[in-house]
Amino acid sequence: MSSIGIDAVEIWSGKLELELTTTFADEKGDDPEKYADGLGLHASSLPDAYEDIVTMGANAAHRLMEREGITPDDVGRIDVATESSFDNSKPVSTYIAGCLEEVYDGDFHHANKGERKFACIAGTQSLDDAYNWIRAGRNRGRAALVVATDTALYERGDPGEATQGAGAIAMLVDEDPSLVELSAAQGYGSADETDFLKPNQQFPSVDGKRSVQVYLDRMLEAGQQLEAQTASVHPTDFAYIPFHTPFPGMVRKVALLGFRHTVRGTEMEDALADDIGFQPREAEFDDRDAYETAIREYMDELRETDAYEAWYADRIEPTLALSREVGNWYTGSVHVARVSALLDAHSAGEDLAGDRLLVGSYGSGAQAEMHAETVMDGWQDAIREVTIDDQIANRYELSFDEYESIHDVHNYEKDVPRTRFTTPSAEFVFDGWGPMGERQYRFVE
Ligand code: COA
Repeated sequence: MSSIGIDAVEIWSGKLELELTTTFADEKGDDPEKYADGLGLHASSLPDAYEDIVTMGANAAHRLMEREGITPDDVGRIDVATESSFDNSKPVSTYIAGCLEEVYDGDFHHANKGERKFACIAGTQSLDDAYNWIRAGRNRGRAALVVATDTALYERGDPGEATQGAGAIAMLVDEDPSLVELSAAQGYGSADETDFLKPNQQFPSVDGKRSVQVYLDRMLEAGQQLEAQTASVHPTDFAYIPFHTPFPGMVRKVALLGFRHTVRGTEMEDALADDIGFQPREAEFDDRDAYETAIREYMDELRETDAYEAWYADRIEPTLALSREVGNWYTGSVHVARVSALLDAHSAGEDLAGDRLLVGSYGSGAQAEMHAETVMDGWQDAIREVTIDDQIANRYELSFDEYESIHDVHNYEKDVPRTRFTTPSAEFVFDGWGPMGERQYRFVE
């Protein structure tokens, strides 16, 4: 059976930058450490007036196709994952295909196109769809283009405003991939929850504190189901563990939970016991509250151990570098975390070929999924061309007034001048609305 996975990846960041630790914190009168340390964020990427989920997705896909020398005939599927869609019928993938057809001779008329929705986990679900399509043999030698694109904007003043972000990631899924092979084994944790939703509204209704707890509960459930399929999951089995990263502080919580859970009953727990004792076992307690208090105290001590700190620094911290600078990209976030780790390993000159990643995705509403990936021999060539660091460095830094104006530009309820802060070059741009309310796009040289 041939291997199936991600062959190539490209990222497109929104062109604007809102500094959280200075501009945003100053305006709110907050301690910058709340952002830098508490949430773990330095800045958000935001879309300029001529950018939206279509332009960012199409630009990421275009760059990927150019780099890989792919033509429309090579692509049998275009799956777009987003939770920022502006149309309940026409999928974003048709707009993206339309953009790409402006610049290629061929077309995507024989490619199956769709749009996936399940909050932030939809990007991973789109990878699954592509994997299953190829595994079923329906691809007939063609690859799938998966695009996760979002403008993660919150209502002004919502606690989530500090975690905003905008960008797209395009992934080419194919047989014999160059970057990572996806495992068939998967663990799911899924339940009917109302932690974050957009009932026919642009900005989300969020119960932020609850969403943090639901994320942890569902991820634990997913990890347990994966463990049941693969006999054991140990934290040192994986070179990196990219998690869905709404903000790095969330990953700090889930990583500690996952580490505690997976070292239980292992030699690592025995070694840690010299310093902090063994983990509390529920059977030792008369009631659940007493057990949970003991677990919390154990985790507070575990977090401070050398073994945990070294593991976190090696296997989790590198996954967060991009997120700290761009914020939450919803459906793209876990895939940006994977790229972040691989870029870090590449710049450190590490050889990861054959190593494994454990990938933890989450979408509010709510569902978590965990699976393993194996880094392929061609990973360095596949990752070295990704230019996200340059894009981050070249963003236009907004003043607070400018941030307010660009938030209004992207607010469907407001009719304000579309003042832009940067000049587009060799990319797709939003070009107004057509007679049926459709969005129109053009490529600018
Ligand atoms: N120095 C250091 N840390 C500080 C700080 C300071 N001056 N002030 C606050 N913090 C820490 C808090 O202790 C907290 O960390 P902890 O959770 O580890 O204790 C963190 O910063 C956030 O502070 P908090 O007061 O909880 O922030 P908030 O009320 O503004 O909201 C969210 C945080 C996550 C609820 C909010 O950003 C949100 O709603 N986000 C959108 C939903 C989301 O992303 N959910 C995640 C699952 S998908």
